This record gives sequence, structure tokens and C-alpha cells, in this order.
Amino acid sequence: MSQDETTKLGQRREVAPPLHGPEAFAAMRRAGRLTAEALDLLVEHVRPGATTQILDRLVSDFAHDHGAYSATLLYRGYPHSICTSINHVVCHGMPNDKPLRDGDILNIDVTLILDGWHGDSSRMYFVGEVPRRAARLCDITHECLTRGIAAVMPGRTTNAIGAAIQSLAEAERCSVVRDFCGHGLGRVFHDSPTILHYVEPSYSVPLRPGMLFTIEPMINLGRPQVKVLSDGWTAVTRDRSLSAQFEHTVGVTENGAEVFTYSPKGYHKPPYDTAS
Ligand code: MF3
Ligand code: CO
Ligand code: CO
Repeated sequence: MSQDETTKLGQRREVAPPLHGPEAFAAMRRAGRLTAEALDLLVEHVRPGATTQILDRLVSDFAHDHGAYSATLLYRGYPHSICTSINHVVCHGMPNDKPLRDGDILNIDVTLILDGWHGDSSRMYFVGEVPRRAARLCDITHECLTRGIAAVMPGRTTNAIGAAIQSLAEAERCSVVRDFCGHGLGRVFHDSPTILHYVEPSYSVPLRPGMLFTIEPMINLGRPQVKVLSDGWTAVTRDRSLSAQFEHTVGVTENGAEVFTYSPKGYHKPPYDTAS
């Protein structure tokens, strides 16, 4: 989500994050799994010459065939079923008819609504062979998400997540995007709490069992600043450095986080092994 309203987090009082029960967790497992299956389906279609428009169509057809639909289509006027963010695009890139090129790195972000509940997840994909620094950025970003998830524990605050992500990203001489953040979700797409991917002492929400939210760090090889293009959506790095992102939907449990959007096929980070 965009952080327009959250730039002055210290001043803003967020509504208390809703706490959800077992039925909600069960519904989130179903929505999360379907979302992950959509991302799995795309693996074999991401290759040089394919277009992001084709990927968009695959996801909307897949959702329809499974009694679900995309949360992004017509969300605040967004005209597509997925977001496709290539190379220096940070997030909210729009599918189009331009062919993917060998060496591109691509984030695909899918949010599906199943029985009223949202599953929201994104992964990086390699188009053909990618440069080492691009693959390294994807590895670091995936590890940032993994450590952010591992930091979730009742009794800690949202800053534990930000600290885990920021410390790794900066130790690797990368930067954490500030302008977009993770978010609560459930029956609502973007709910409380806001999940920052960096430490912000003036904003701290205690983690409690029953909270549902995304963790979706955007990590840049260069500086953290972004700008939004004139289409009103596409966010790019100001210095045109490469950017990567992974996103999972999680629920807080008594002893950590339950991840709803793990790949059933084990496609956790690229390059994806499609042999088996
Ligand atoms: N799925 C994105 C997120 O992680 C939101 C996309 S909103 C859109 O929060 F309108 F750009 F699609
Ligand atoms: Co999200
Ligand atoms: Co998303």
C-alpha cells in the first residue's frame, strides 16, 4: 500500500488492528493458498518474449475458474488484475504488451479475494539469465522477508519486523523503500496495522495473536527514494537502480507467524526449479 497517509505516523492515530479468530484463519488459509497457486502458475510463463498482459490474463482466468477474483482490478481505479514491476520499477507496475527481455527481473503481485477474504503475495521472477547483481538483490530481499516473518512474535512490536529487515538490507549495502508498506488485511484489502519495513520509533504497534497483515519489503540496490510516473501508479527508483520485493500474508499466532501464501510447489525464490 502507499504510505501517503502514514508519512506522519507519529501524529496519526491508527485504529486498533482487528483481532481474528479461527474461522478467519481458516478462510485466510484458503485465500492465501489460491493466491500462491496463481503465482506458481506463472512460473512457466515468464520467459523472454512473453508479455505481462498475458500474465495478467492468466491470473484473472485462474481466479475466475476458482470462484475468486482480483482485488486490484478497479481498486482506486487500478485497471489490471496484477501488478508487474520490472527492474527499476519498485511496485504497482502495470501489465502491457511489451515483451519481457532476457535479463529482466520481475515482481508479480497478486491479490485474490476468495469468499470475501484477501490473499496478497508477490514474488520475483527471472526472465532468462539475469545479471549476478540482480540475482543477489533478489536473494537479499527474500531473506529480508524471511527474517521479517521470523521476527513476528506476540509481545514484540511492529518495529521488530522493521529492524530485522532494515538491518539485513543495510548490512548488504542495499536500501529499504520508505514510501510503501505492509498492511493489515482480511475482509478488507488495506487495514490496520501499517507494517513498516524499517525502524520508526515513533510508530510501534504491539503484535497480538489474531492480527492479519502482509510483510512486503521493497529493497533497492541504490538509494531508497522513489517517484510515481505520470500514469499515477508505476513507482520507480529515482536513481534508476534495481528494486526487488517479496510479499507474504501472515497471521500472528501464540508462538509466531503463520504464513498463508507459501508456494505449494516450493517456488520460494528464483530461479525456480520446474524439473520435478
Ligand atoms: N497488492 C499490492 C499490495 O501489496 C497492492 C496493489 S494495489 C494496486 O498491497 F491497485 F496497485 F493494484
Ligand atoms: Co500488500
Ligand atoms: Co501485494
